[in-house]
Amino acid sequence: MSQIILIEDNQAMNDLLTINIATHIGVSVIPRNGAKDTIELLAILPNIDLIICKDKIKDEETGRLIYDHIKNNKLGTSLIVMGDFPIEIDEIVVTMKGPKNWEKTVRACARVLGISDEDLAKKLNPDYVSVPVRFFLNLTSSSCDVFIRIKKGPMDYQFIKRIHSGDSFDRESVEKYIGQGLQEFFIPQEHYKNFTTFLSNQLVTKLDDDKQTLDEKIDTIGESFSVAMQEIAKLGFTPATIQLTESIVENIVKTFQKTHLSLLMLKVLNSKHSYIYQHSHLLSVVAGECLKNLQYFSEDNMKRLAYAAFFHDITLAENEELARIRTYEELEKSELSETDWDLVFNHALEAASLVKSNPEVLSGVETIIKSHHGALNGKGYAINSYAKLDTLSQVFIICEEFVGFLIDYKEKKTEMMPLIDELKKKYPGAEMGDVIAALEKMLKNQKSNDKTRT
Ligand SMILES: [Fe+2]
Ligand SMILES: [Fe+2]
Repeated sequence: MSQIILIEDNQAMNDLLTINIATHIGVSVIPRNGAKDTIELLAILPNIDLIICKDKIKDEETGRLIYDHIKNNKLGTSLIVMGDFPIEIDEIVVTMKGPKNWEKTVRACARVLGISDEDLAKKLNPDYVSVPVRFFLNLTSSSCDVFIRIKKGPMDYQFIKRIHSGDSFDRESVEKYIGQGLQEFFIPQEHYKNFTTFLSNQLVTKLDDDKQTLDEKIDTIGESFSVAMQEIAKLGFTPATIQLTESIVENIVKTFQKTHLSLLMLKVLNSKHSYIYQHSHLLSVVAGECLKNLQYFSEDNMKRLAYAAFFHDITLAENEELARIRTYEELEKSELSETDWDLVFNHALEAASLVKSNPEVLSGVETIIKSHHGALNGKGYAINSYAKLDTLSQVFIICEEFVGFLIDYKEKKTEMMPLIDELKKKYPGAEMGDVIAALEKMLKNQKSNDKTRT
C-alpha cells in the first residue's frame, strides 16, 4: 500500500488534497509541517512512495531540502513540488508551476503512483454525485434514486440504494442517518441537475408556507441559503436557483417586517447555520433598520441590500474564514497562499460579476457588492472613496463591519469595544456620519426596548 507525505501550510488546500487523494487514489496522506520533520519521518519510514510539498514554507527552501535528501540518500521516494523549482522533471521530481490546482496535483500524484489516466478519469468524473444528507431534511420524497457509498477496497466503492425515486420518507429517518454520522448521499450523475431543481422547488414551497414558526422559518431560510450557494457555485444561475434566491430574499424582508428586531437578530445569531448565512441574514436585517432610521426604507431598497448581502462574499463560501478578513492589514497578516490572497483581494469584484449574470437582479445591487469593502473597482480594501458612494452602498459598508464584529464577538474571538466610536474614527465626515447615527439609533432603541420588556 502506497504512503504519501503532504507538506502544505494552507489549510484549505491541505484539506482538498488530503480528501481527494484519499477518495480518488485510495491512499491516506501523512501531513508534515516542513522539511525537518519530513526528513525525521523518512528515517523511520524510508519506504514512503511520494512526498508532495510546497516549494517554500515560510523561509524554508522545503522543495530543495527534500530533493537533496532523497538524492543524497538514494531513496526510492518521488517528489512533487508545487510552486517554483529549478528542475521541471527528472527521475525524482515533478514540478507543478503556476497557480495551485488540486485536480492537477491529484493527477500528477496518480501518474507517479502508476494509476492509469482512464482509472483516474472515472474517479474524478464519477457516475454518482454526492449531496449532503442534511439537504434531505427539507424533502419528503426524492426525484431520483438515492444511494449510500460503501468502501470495498482502496479504489473500489459499492453504491447501495437507500431511497427509491418517488417513495416518501420522513424527517426522522433522515435525522437517523445524520445521527449515525452519515454526511453524504449519492445520486446518479445524470439525475443531478433535475434533482437540484426538485430540491429548489421544494424549498421554495416551504419558504412560501406562512404557517411556519419563526424558528422554522429561520431554519428554512438557513438551509435554502446553503443549497442555493452550493447550486449556484456548481451550476451557475438556472431558473430554479434564481427562483430560490428570490424566495430567500423575499422571506428575509418579510420576516424583518413582521418580527421584533432584537428577537430576530438573536435567533439568527444563535441558529446552527454557517457563518456566511448568519453574516448575510443579520446584515440584511441591520441594514433594513438603518434604512428606516434614515427615512430611506422601501421594500425594493431593502431587497437590494438583502440581495447584495446574499452574494457579497459568495466566492469565499467554501472557506468561510476568508470572509472574516475586513481590512488590508488583516489580509497582509493572514499569511495566505498566493491563490487565496488573490481570491480575497478580488472577491468583491468577482461576486459583482457573478450577480450580473442573473437577469432578475435589481439595479444597484452590483455596485453595492463591488464596493462593499470601500474600493470602487472591487479590488482590495479602501476607506477613502466612500464619499463617492450612493446611500445604499454606504449603509451596506457600515452594517457589514458592524455585523462582522457582532458575530466575532459572539464567538468570543474579539474583545468588546465601543464600536460606534471606532466606526466614527474610521469614517469621519458627514456622509458616513448619518449612517453611523442611524446604526446608533438602532442600538439605543434596542436597549430601551429591552429595558421596558424586563
Ligand atoms: Fe462580508
Ligand atoms: Fe467581503
